[in-house]
Amino acid sequence: MKKTAFITGASSGIGRATAVALAKADFQLVVTGRRRERLEALAAELAPTPVHILTFDVRDRTAVDAAVAGLPAEFGHVDVLINNAGNAHGLSPIQEGDVADWDAMMDGNVKGLLYVSRAALPRMGEGGFIVNIGSIAGHEAYANGNVYCASKAAVNMLTRTMRIDLLPKGIRVAEVAPGMVETEFSEVRFKGDEEKAANVYKGVQPLRAEDVADLIQFMVTRPPHVQIAEVIIFPAAQAAAATVRRQQ
Ligand SMILES: NC(=O)c1ccc[n+]([C@@H]2O[C@H](COP(=O)([O-])OP(=O)(O)OC[C@H]3O[C@@H](n4cnc5c(N)ncnc54)[C@H](OP(=O)(O)O)[C@@H]3O)[C@@H](O)[C@H]2O)c1
Repeated sequence: MKKTAFITGASSGIGRATAVALAKADFQLVVTGRRRERLEALAAELAPTPVHILTFDVRDRTAVDAAVAGLPAEFGHVDVLINNAGNAHGLSPIQEGDVADWDAMMDGNVKGLLYVSRAALPRMGEGGFIVNIGSIAGHEAYANGNVYCASKAAVNMLTRTMRIDLLPKGIRVAEVAPGMVETEFSEVRFKGDEEKAANVYKGVQPLRAEDVADLIQFMVTRPPHVQIAEVIIFPAAQAAAATVRRQQ
């Protein structure tokens, strides 16, 4: 029987690429996001891999609980949980920050990860693996990163504490903290301003979502006694959160 990987934020970017990579690694998938049509297109692309789609906002605890409770029996045991859903919203000094953006980041990146983990954990057991997608922003401060950095620092600490709490259950827990990856991330951060989003990657070859997915696939397919706990992954042109080599 295939193992089940449950991936949040699979409608785009890193989550989507991870779904493709884990399907190739012979997992069956539970894929989640708010944009159902994207998830349906992904499921069609991955056929004949069994894919179950759940549509919910990770910030809505009732919706998370209901969706996970409604998993059909054949997807009922979760072997791998990829807590990937999240985004940055805005890039402003703290004194000019938009409170709605702060709520979106803390509620999505931190509380959403908690809600999904709490709902999924009773379905996980010995040999399970949770990968939380953090960010270099959770390891280093950068100008105007304030609340996004704080939300990802919380992901780093939650990962470390979850690893301790879940040790008796034999569930491994890891953080993958990427630097610059070209996805819809910057479009979301700059609220659809394509020029601002494109400037983030100007003169740089960023990571592709597939590069991060390769790493995740490697981590979750190690033998059961191996736990890669924390990995920072940068493009070659990046040395620190705000230290990037731009050419041209
Ligand atoms: N790209 C980077 O440079 C970078 C660097 C470091 C870390 N990261 C992290 O990597 C993760 C994935 O981001 P990405 O770069 O792949 O960006 P992306 O292309 O914008 O994908 C974000 C995914 O998260 C889902 N999502 C966001 N908010 C959600 C919510 N409230 N409820 C449910 N799903 C939600 C989106 O699905 P729907 O919109 O369909 O709901 C989408 O599938 C995030 O945690 C991000 O912080 C990204």
